Amino acid sequence: METLATIAQLRTWRNARLGSVGFVPTMGALHEGHASLVRRSATENVDTVVSIFVNPTQFGPTEDLDKYPRTLQADLDLCRAAGASAVFTPDKLMMYPPGFATWVTVDRLTNKLCGKSRPDHFRGVTTVVTKLFNLVQPARAYFGQKDAQQALVLTRMAQELDMPLQVITCPIVREHDGLAMSSRNRYLSDADRQRAVALTQALQAIQAAFHGGQRDVVSLRQTGLAVLAPRVDRVDYLEILSAHDLAEIGRVESRALCAVAAFVGTTRLIDNVILEG
Ligand code: PAF
Repeated sequence: METLATIAQLRTWRNARLGSVGFVPTMGALHEGHASLVRRSATENVDTVVSIFVNPTQFGPTEDLDKYPRTLQADLDLCRAAGASAVFTPDKLMMYPPGFATWVTVDRLTNKLCGKSRPDHFRGVTTVVTKLFNLVQPARAYFGQKDAQQALVLTRMAQELDMPLQVITCPIVREHDGLAMSSRNRYLSDADRQRAVALTQALQAIQAAFHGGQRDVVSLRQTGLAVLAPRVDRVDYLEILSAHDLAEIGRVESRALCAVAAFVGTTRLIDNVILEG
């Protein structure tokens, strides 16, 4: 496995590739969820590139950019073990030279859910991912369903901007008690870690009600909030929207995304399930 620290090194490496390249963009602090994406890419492509870049433009001014976990050596070990051919580790100046002024935005899909409380977040994600796609030129790019809105936004972006690649969304990987794996889980104290599973349990309660025949979105939300609200410090959102375009719905008649974001201590966690008949 090669470590490519500059854009020039990445371009040289890329120009020498003859077969398909799979791509797993990350911000590091890798866990089993990322490993599952790398493994899938390694089975579907000749080469797999992982990028590790804590992208400053997707963090709000009061968010956790400075304290975002940085664990490069462990990340490289995980990438190697999962079958990556190369890891790209650019720095901020390379990705955003002074005077940087070009942005990629996706309308509408980005105004909902996380976009409401993190206004410029998706503009940062779509811009950095476009830059990374241009640099890596992958045939396929792999993202986790845990960031369901991000996966929808990036799928739409790639389609509408005619990017010559396939965006592949892979299943959420969970801890033994159901908590969705996340780089931010390592912020949680032991007590907060126990409370964090309330996000998953709220989604499970909604799923159980749905499978029991409940289709009304107001009732389903109430079921979830009754589990979630007493155990977390703040619910950012718990919403049930069309899984296709995040449109509001009154009843779950076709595929719906049930998504939650909540603060446990000062850590903001997200999770989701798909509801379908
Ligand atoms: O999901 C992430 O880790 C980030 O949002 C991504 C896609 C790597 C862009 O910085």
